[in-house]
Amino acid sequence: MVSEAVACRAPMRAIQITDLSGPESALELVDVAEPEASHPMTPGEGVVVEVRAAGVAFPEVLQTRGQYQVKPPLPFVPGSEVAGVVRSATPNSGFEPGDRVAAGCMLGGFAEVAVAPPWLTFALPDSLDFAQGAGLILNYHTAYFSLKLRGRLQEGETVLVHGAAGGVGTAALQIAKGLGAKTIAVVSSDAKEQVAREAGADEVVRSDGAWKDEAKELSGGGVDVVLDPVGGDRFTDSLLSLREGGRVVVVGFTGGSIPEVRVNRLLLNNIEVVGAGWGAFVMAKPEVNQKTGAEINRLAQAGFVRPIVGERFALEDAAEALKAIDERRATGKVVLEL
Ligand SMILES: NC(=O)c1ccc[n+]([C@@H]2O[C@H](COP(=O)([O-])OP(=O)(O)OC[C@H]3O[C@@H](n4cnc5c(N)ncnc54)[C@H](OP(=O)(O)O)[C@@H]3O)[C@@H](O)[C@H]2O)c1
Repeated sequence: MVSEAVACRAPMRAIQITDLSGPESALELVDVAEPEASHPMTPGEGVVVEVRAAGVAFPEVLQTRGQYQVKPPLPFVPGSEVAGVVRSATPNSGFEPGDRVAAGCMLGGFAEVAVAPPWLTFALPDSLDFAQGAGLILNYHTAYFSLKLRGRLQEGETVLVHGAAGGVGTAALQIAKGLGAKTIAVVSSDAKEQVAREAGADEVVRSDGAWKDEAKELSGGGVDVVLDPVGGDRFTDSLLSLREGGRVVVVGFTGGSIPEVRVNRLLLNNIEVVGAGWGAFVMAKPEVNQKTGAEINRLAQAGFVRPIVGERFALEDAAEALKAIDERRATGKVVLEL
């Protein structure tokens, strides 16, 4: 049912989070009014996108349990990134109706129509389809931000990537290769090893094996950067796998626990732990987003950036998509196709 207050706007199909009972039961397919051409982060301005594919990510799983830092009042339409075709855009946005775009909408992406701030909307390179475009913002901007701006990755350095077959992991492998680094992927299964290799990993080691020692050997004494979206028990070994001057970049905690650091290790080995919170950093810095987006598109044109799409689901099967991530079955980018 579309409420009377919004009945003047056309209805669309969307997925809402209606309670906080988890991915299995919290989602509902509903008819709601299409969004206005204005985004809460850019009041009065917005790029309205006819969604062809919506990216699904770990934060949406957390949102179904009320465990993510962004906690909108219920019910709400989740979905932080989409790819599709511009229906309308405010003047000076740089976009016109019909343009193919990848857009970060923050919320509202699991729907037929979404609206994004102009500074978080990017031309979709011709080499990428809509499903790939739906994985282009969150993962690739995070990977570039984490490796380059926070981790200060240099050409010729070696990066070890945890959770390397996941969304952030595969993006990080590709960005690192594009920046001229050597890559070592850490994964938990044969299937994930295959995905990491497809994403361009030079070497793959197993999370249940002697990965720290293997990484030290493969890198000739220690890696320069560890990109860590997993956290948990392996954190100390990440520190121990660094060479002098190395950096562990903290990106997330899919492993469940938030590690603690005995800071004497940092002093003894002259190493660093660096936090990388992409959303908080770029929110008020449109120029950083624009530069990063241009760099990602350059790396796409050069053939390095090519999002690996894992499972594809219909909009109405969003719960299955979230469960695939929650149950650690997902590889590459999970998308909803509309
Ligand atoms: N800091 C930021 O700005 C930022 C931005 C975007 C995302 N993130 C965070 O980055 C993390 C990774 O996101 P993602 O989209 O890459 O997730 P994903 O696609 O689900 O991949 C996460 C990987 O974590 C590993 N993992 C280890 N223990 C796990 C467990 N108990 N449950 C699930 N996965 C486990 C898995 O690899 P193996 O099975 O091979 O170990 C999995 O492939 C999330 O915490 C997300 O919130 C942070």
